[in-house]
Amino acid sequence: MPGIFITGTNTDVGKTYIGVLLAKQLTALGITVIPRKPIESGCQRSNDELIPADATALQQAATYTGDLAEICPFRFEPPISPVRAAHLANRILTTEQLVSICLTGSEQGFLLVEGAGGFYSPLSEDGLNADLATALQLPVLLVANDSLGAINHVLLSVEAIKLRGLSLMGVVLNAIDDNTPADMDNAADLRQLLDCPVFSQNYNAVDTSALAEGLIEYVLAVSDMPQPVYAAKSNKK
Ligand SMILES: Nc1ncnc2c1ncn2[C@@H]1O[C@H](COP(=O)(O)OP(=O)(O)O)[C@@H](O)[C@H]1O
Ligand SMILES: [Mg+2]
Repeated sequence: MPGIFITGTNTDVGKTYIGVLLAKQLTALGITVIPRKPIESGCQRSNDELIPADATALQQAATYTGDLAEICPFRFEPPISPVRAAHLANRILTTEQLVSICLTGSEQGFLLVEGAGGFYSPLSEDGLNADLATALQLPVLLVANDSLGAINHVLLSVEAIKLRGLSLMGVVLNAIDDNTPADMDNAADLRQLLDCPVFSQNYNAVDTSALAEGLIEYVLAVSDMPQPVYAAKSNKK
């Protein structure tokens, strides 16, 4: 099954931002993207409904025709760990239930799953993000905030991903603000330390195609799917 599990070095590092970019580009290539964010906390209440912002963004990016409930059935209001939020709502959710949400209806497309928090953040009563990724056996894309300290966060997360025997698709260093010190170059430093691709995403980048094209070529190669045909720029390679 082609797909990807998007995890992060933390919450608020850009998992959804990168997932949206990826979903848009894959969709533009004619690939059916099946987004899944099986559990989401910090949902806004609108009348009687809890609105999951991440799941909604992924749904729109993928122009997913299915119901939002297929993407994210487990929604909680407090902006805290989803497991704690579930407890407060008297819900007990298992990794098996999350796996089932991810897989149901995913047969005919590219499964794009976003966890919550980081790789070792709790995600269900009996498991971490790592356990869902392991159960799904999807290649992992690790997103990190491209700030001072990122190298440590990335290496710790990479070690954890490898300990699970998962395929690490790559690392995205994502600038979520414009405070990047001028002489810092985490991407160059990490390329010396890692054997997987390291991608960079600038803050508020106007042209996001470079990241997406490089990433997508790699995503499709790892997933054993046909490579996209881009205009002049990529054909020159
Ligand atoms: N490259 C970027 N440029 C500008 N804003 C970004 C970028 N990456 C993330 N953000 C913003 O940072 C915040 C956190 O990103 P988000 O994707 O929600 O993180 P996560 O899914 O890891 O919790 C969001 O408001 C998002 O729009
Ligand atoms: Mg998110």
